Amino acid sequence: MASGGAAVDLEDVQTVDLTSELLRRLKCASKPDKRLVFIGPPGSGKGTQSPVIKDEFCLCHLATGDMLRAAVAAKTPLGVKAKESMDKGKLVSDDLVVGIINEAMSKPRCQKGFILDGFPRTVTQAEKLDEMLNKQGVQIDKVLNFAIDDSILEERITGRWIHPSSGRSYHTKFAPPKVPGFDDVTGEPLIQRKDDNAEVLMSRLEAFHRQTKPVIDYYANKGILANIHAEKPRQEVTSEVQKAVS
Ligand code: AP5
Repeated sequence: MASGGAAVDLEDVQTVDLTSELLRRLKCASKPDKRLVFIGPPGSGKGTQSPVIKDEFCLCHLATGDMLRAAVAAKTPLGVKAKESMDKGKLVSDDLVVGIINEAMSKPRCQKGFILDGFPRTVTQAEKLDEMLNKQGVQIDKVLNFAIDDSILEERITGRWIHPSSGRSYHTKFAPPKVPGFDDVTGEPLIQRKDDNAEVLMSRLEAFHRQTKPVIDYYANKGILANIHAEKPRQEVTSEVQKAVS
């Protein structure tokens, strides 16, 4: 029954879509597995660079912030628990995020590896991640530290607009949409994240320096850290990231 249903679904898929998916899978088969962590303060460019590397190396992109925002929007029990901390720019509890990452990493789309964007953010999360991966006999290959001065981040954060259903991100100055306020692909309205204002940014930065900076040291001690000059223009950052993960 299940395979019959799948065959009917495939018949409905356009040949051009099937062919491009087949070609994508063939290309991906020759890529080495990669397990990457992108770490950096809010607005440092983790979410901007992740899709490029994800496509190039056939990885899945797991952004804990996006997952938590989806849970908040859907008002799931997890979302209800996370909302208050997120609105204030504080970290949500380690147990909540470790649980969602553990589940997400086991999905088939993560077969060739993953980019963890915004996780781990505390040393406890980093240790739990090591435990999870050890059980599977694998480990993190590279951690990219998006190093940038705090003074650059307010302009990046307050100018960011997103298309909620796709996650596409724009910036009024650095990556403007074709029509101000509307998504280039769907024409739907863009929104600003509730925590993307100067006041909440201050507490997000405080959380980064106090709780996440030690995670950078944790990976430096393991000898798998690469520093990225995240203040550079977007394309130059992409080149640095590509070099660091290749
Ligand atoms: P999360 O969603 O992860 O937010 P964040 O870490 O604060 O990161 P951002 O998404 O703000 O920054 P980004 O580096 O992705 O920047 P982007 O590429 O979009 O987390 C939100 C909240 O969820 C947390 O505060 C916490 O409460 C909770 N949470 C999440 N994970 C958690 C965890 N593990 N544990 C506990 N709590 C957790 O770029 C920003 C803007 O700049 C864009 O508009 C972009 O166009 C522009 N831009 C990017 N690169 C450049 C460039 N090189 N030059 C010019 N402009 C650029």
